[in-house]
Amino acid sequence: MRFFALGPVCVFFLLLWVPACGEKVTSGSVNPCCYLPCQNQGVCVRYAEDKYECDCIRTGFHGENCTVPEFWTRVRLFLRPSPGAVHFILTHFSWIWDIVNSTFMRDFLMRLVLTVRSNFIPSPPTYNSKYSYLSWESYYNVSYYTRLLPPVPEDCPTPLGVRGGAGLPDPELLVEKLFKRKTFRKDPQRCNLMFAFFAQHFTHQFFKTYNRMGPGFTKALGHGVDAGHIYGDSLKRQLQLRLLKDGKLKYQLINGEMYPPTTLEAPVKMNYPPNTPQNQQLAFGHELFGLLPGLGMYGTIWLREHNRVCDILKTLHPHWDDEQLFQTTRFIIIGETIRIVIEEYVQQLSGYHMKLKFDPTMLHNTDFQYGNRIALEFDHLYHWHPLMPDALNIDGDTFTYEQFIFNTSILSHYGIEKLVESFSRQPAGQIGGGYNLHAIVVHVAVKTIEVSRLLRVQPFNEYRKRFNLKPYTSFREFSDDEEIALQLEEFYHGDINALEFYPGLLLEKTRPGAIFGESMVEMGAPFSLKGLLGNPICSPTYWKPSTFGGKVGFDIVNSATLKKLVCLNTKTCPYVAFRVPTQAELEKENRKRKDEL
Ligand code: HEM
Ligand SMILES: *[C@@H]1O[C@H](CO)[C@@H](O)[C@H](O)[C@H]1NC(C)=O
Ligand SMILES: *[C@@H]1O[C@H](CO)[C@@H](O)[C@H](O)[C@H]1NC(C)=O
Ligand SMILES: *[C@@H]1O[C@H](CO)[C@@H](O)[C@H](O)[C@H]1NC(C)=O
Ligand SMILES: *[C@@H]1O[C@H](CO)[C@@H](O)[C@H](O)[C@H]1NC(C)=O
Repeated sequence: MRFFALGPVCVFFLLLWVPACGEKVTSGSVNPCCYLPCQNQGVCVRYAEDKYECDCIRTGFHGENCTVPEFWTRVRLFLRPSPGAVHFILTHFSWIWDIVNSTFMRDFLMRLVLTVRSNFIPSPPTYNSKYSYLSWESYYNVSYYTRLLPPVPEDCPTPLGVRGGAGLPDPELLVEKLFKRKTFRKDPQRCNLMFAFFAQHFTHQFFKTYNRMGPGFTKALGHGVDAGHIYGDSLKRQLQLRLLKDGKLKYQLINGEMYPPTTLEAPVKMNYPPNTPQNQQLAFGHELFGLLPGLGMYGTIWLREHNRVCDILKTLHPHWDDEQLFQTTRFIIIGETIRIVIEEYVQQLSGYHMKLKFDPTMLHNTDFQYGNRIALEFDHLYHWHPLMPDALNIDGDTFTYEQFIFNTSILSHYGIEKLVESFSRQPAGQIGGGYNLHAIVVHVAVKTIEVSRLLRVQPFNEYRKRFNLKPYTSFREFSDDEEIALQLEEFYHGDINALEFYPGLLLEKTRPGAIFGESMVEMGAPFSLKGLLGNPICSPTYWKPSTFGGKVGFDIVNSATLKKLVCLNTKTCPYVAFRVPTQAELEKENRKRKDEL
């Protein structure tokens, strides 16, 4: 009887990590794995009360905590260049790269980049937010985001294991003090809003947290570039968006130009404020693309591109049915996306002088594994809200957040050309370095930090080690900004190992002239490249002309650019790029305009 009465109470208290119900928590009874003792990807297994073992197999290390390198590991570590040095070379000495760009060296180095980066990501995937050990459920249940590092065990004293025992900072206060924008600071790499909205629209196909199930779950079961933001994340939604004729998607014509249908014509569930008239509710694959003109713009561009490619395939294959035209076009759209992402978006983001190349055959003779599972850490890392400006400048008009949020009339009022031109000219904010988050999205950063504690994401320094980066030894080493270093030191009671994952990524000192710091690049790139190249269309069986409807379709994929994507779907061709034009580019453009007159 007593047992039944006490049971739920015990569970309640255990959830709060309060020593209760007769379980005396002495220092000896802390789960030894809470100290995160196993280094170099060794796996911690608890045995008796305070006994644990690190499984060091295939780590290249041995010893109690997998810290003693084997001979060949020693050699490898000695020869391995530091990420900082590699980055410096890739972003300097343009004369070297001018030579490399046009020789076999480009392919060699590109293959090296791809294999080295993707080797950080285990395939098949491993943990998730419920399972900090390997399990069938964790492998099999794709409703979870995977986890690169296992969550800190539930029975640990703090969400970070034992770190942060003196108390973790209040997320609201932390964000208010160090994240929130003072005055807009533009990105020194010259990323523009065309880039920012691309980042957002592209990543929202695979970052779709299923909040009703919990913060560790996703609605995007494709776990990668499946173009679910265009076609919807379920078959039902896809069918509602399709015209079911010639492979096409439903659309409406406004002033003779193609726009997404309203929810009257395509009855999909969209997230609009309740008072929005239905004839202003545009239907997109993604529920939230009515939120911002930039998302609506990309949604419209892809809609036009899909229907344009359908027309091309239809003339080539007059006997194909709607289904085959649709499915093949979807593959072409996915292929175009991956090419634009690698050769233009990542190129812009990296600042590399090496010309990046999307060529899946590079990996066909390596042991690269196809397939991908989106990680929670990748989702958190990609919360790049400092990109957002204070207001939007569209064709000479200024829109505040109140004016442009959920204002779908902007799309057809200005048209795609003017939006592209305006967004290509307006600078985006610098992501790293702190003090650059617009007030309207402050709550998003707060929630990210809260969720990371709830889901027991390991400390920033543990992720530094996982990606072969040296853990920081002080807040001053971490940040070159006196104010940030001091404030963090106070927030985290002087313990750099208590610094959390997301604040670490956003507040780290930026690389000189760069959009963010070392960690964002070194941790983001592996997730990103694994997701792009791990797509089934890149595998040897799929990557051939027939998959894309023959040579014509394959050529579309192999020659896709951002400029073509826009200009093959608009009447006039605006300035379109992922970075704001330089003075030289502006002058060149002006001369061209004068010549035309
Ligand atoms: C005015 C512009 C934006 C607004 C108002 C906005 C707002 C939001 C909100 C409310 C959430 C959900 C937070 C939560 O409930 O956990 C979110 C999530 C997110 N945002 Fe933004 N955002 C904006 C721009 C961007 C941009 C430019 C990016 C660039 C990459 C971005 C990336 C993300 C990511 C990755 C998530 C997580 C998505 C998920 O897991 O479902 N956002 N944003
Ligand atoms: C292994 O890690 C534990 C916990 O961090 C530590 O107490 C112990 O001294 C370490 N052992 C060795 C051999 O370094
Ligand atoms: C090499 O590629 C980079 C990046 O695309 C570019 O900036 C540079 O101009 C290229 N050089 C040559 C000679 O193509
Ligand atoms: C995945 O796990 C969640 C939580 O346990 C469960 O609700 C869901 O049904 C599982 N999905 C599948 C396909 O088994
Ligand atoms: C929505 O955008 C239009 C321009 O397309 C503008 O005239 C209108 O004022 C905006 N609505 C609000 C509520 O600001």
